[in-house]
Amino acid sequence: MRFFKNLHNEIDFFFRKNIKLSRKIKENIEQTETSHITEWLQNLINVEKNNIKILDIGAKNWYYVKELYNFFKFNNFEKEIWLDGIEIDAFRVYIDLHTRYDHAMYYSKDLKNCRYIAGDFLKHNEKYDYITWFYPFVTENPLLEWGLPLSTFRPLEMLQHAVASLKPGGIIIIKNQDEKEYIIQENLFQQLNVSYKKEPKCLITMSQNMS
Ligand SMILES: C[S@@+](CC[C@H](N)C(=O)[O-])C[C@H]1O[C@@H](n2cnc3c(N)ncnc32)[C@H](O)[C@@H]1O
Repeated sequence: MRFFKNLHNEIDFFFRKNIKLSRKIKENIEQTETSHITEWLQNLINVEKNNIKILDIGAKNWYYVKELYNFFKFNNFEKEIWLDGIEIDAFRVYIDLHTRYDHAMYYSKDLKNCRYIAGDFLKHNEKYDYITWFYPFVTENPLLEWGLPLSTFRPLEMLQHAVASLKPGGIIIIKNQDEKEYIIQENLFQQLNVSYKKEPKCLITMSQNMS
């Protein structure tokens, strides 16, 4: 069963990745998904800094981009921030016949310096002050259920690349699904010999390179 599920996902993903359907959303769409970004992130980082560059890994349709953006803007209209979101499966089609990409463009359309990147994070080589990563896949089954093939399951490489994508003093904030996933996530940090801190709502790590 698992073999066929993976094969199905591999074929499906191949077509989505190569066909790249996209149509601009013109009508108003009702947002049904809710996020808790502020609750998760507050007290973890100093967001008063200006000119910061932020990356959100696995942005899905970026339904939460406004909350993420406003959190880093810190109610300061003068402050400049650059926010990127990257998603490997950006062309999954929803019931409204629009893709994740279309939705992400819609949700981020009024936000200055916001960029939704349809691509594989492992092939993205820019440096960031902050990296947010909500619900990374740390076990195979949720990834398969999500519709991705096992060839995209690379949790250790992803974490290593995230650490390497930090500017000196940069910070990664990871939100896992449950305690079981936190334990697996912590194990990945330990395998890479990267220090981390478990906060009540997230795991955080800071770049070891401070220069
Ligand atoms: C569990 S979902 C979390 C989605 C979103 N962050 C949220 O909070 O609702 C994980 C997301 O990571 C994406 N992803 C997995 N591997 C990726 C990669 N190598 N590069 C970019 N995105 C990836 C998946 O396609 C999926 O949308």
